[in-house]
Amino acid sequence: MSNILAGKKGIIFGALDNQSIAWKVAERCVQEGAQIVLTNAPVAMRMGEINALAEACNAPVIGADATSLEDLENLFTKSMEHFGGKVDFVLHSIGMSVNVRKGKSYTDLNYEWMQKTFDVSAMSFHKTMQTMWKLDAINDWGSIIALTYIAAQRVFPDYSEMAESKALLESFGRSFGYHYGTAKNVRVNTISQSPTMTTAGKGIKGFQEFYDYADKMSPLGNAPAEDCANYCIALFSDLTRYVTMQNLFHDGGFSNMGMNPRVIGL
Ligand SMILES: NC(=O)c1ccc[n+]([C@@H]2O[C@H](COP(=O)([O-])OP(=O)(O)OC[C@H]3O[C@@H](n4cnc5c(N)ncnc54)[C@H](O)[C@@H]3O)[C@@H](O)[C@H]2O)c1
Repeated sequence: MSNILAGKKGIIFGALDNQSIAWKVAERCVQEGAQIVLTNAPVAMRMGEINALAEACNAPVIGADATSLEDLENLFTKSMEHFGGKVDFVLHSIGMSVNVRKGKSYTDLNYEWMQKTFDVSAMSFHKTMQTMWKLDAINDWGSIIALTYIAAQRVFPDYSEMAESKALLESFGRSFGYHYGTAKNVRVNTISQSPTMTTAGKGIKGFQEFYDYADKMSPLGNAPAEDCANYCIALFSDLTRYVTMQNLFHDGGFSNMGMNPRVIGL
């Protein structure tokens, strides 16, 4: 470890259990010398697993439903009190589709559920950044990341309305990246991660088969969650200060492949 985040303070959304990508990011941040606050939706916190991570990371847990402006304001206010100052980095690692959960097909979507999906999976990113903006909660040269998936650009039928959620999320990253870059030299990026065996990932129909397909298609294989965490650390660090408004593929090369002979057994 190189202590690359020494002196930095950050907030990590979305650690549900030890498979969560956010869980690995939290662990790596602390290994690299950062102080963190953990947050998740109150319903996820009731499952209790986040407390084990909190203990290991010596981090407080402040609950927040990321669709609630009131909860977000409380989260950032309390975090700044805890740190005695502003934060340097934030990870948004939140996704949930009501229609996927309820098994609705893409040609028969319930629009109230779709709105909920967009609110949780995409608008929550804008709400988080707008809350930070209004509270002036992040230091100059800070770094904000959200996790996304390539279904924002290409069709993966079983990803359903999450595809549009991710397209919206990535667009919020670019647009807010302009405002934050101009005002405070803060960077905003999205990381487009390989399929990963987590609670959110496994919610997609046929996930195991698809995971195996993507693994074969990618020259380097699927990128593991631990390596996604390493990429987040690099983007939180001062070594990437001019990388902003990007959607960055962390996918073992999948996004630039057309055909891989090993997929069809050649
Ligand atoms: N697993 C994959 O294959 C994969 C691939 C690419 C991108 N991603 C993205 O990575 C991110 C993290 O997902 P994961 O795979 O680690 O799964 P996960 O299920 O461990 O994490 C999803 C998190 O979202 C939280 N969440 C849901 N509703 C919320 C709300 N209203 N307020 C606050 N938090 C809420 C959940 O409690 C959970 O902690 C998501 O954005 C997901 O879309 C996942």
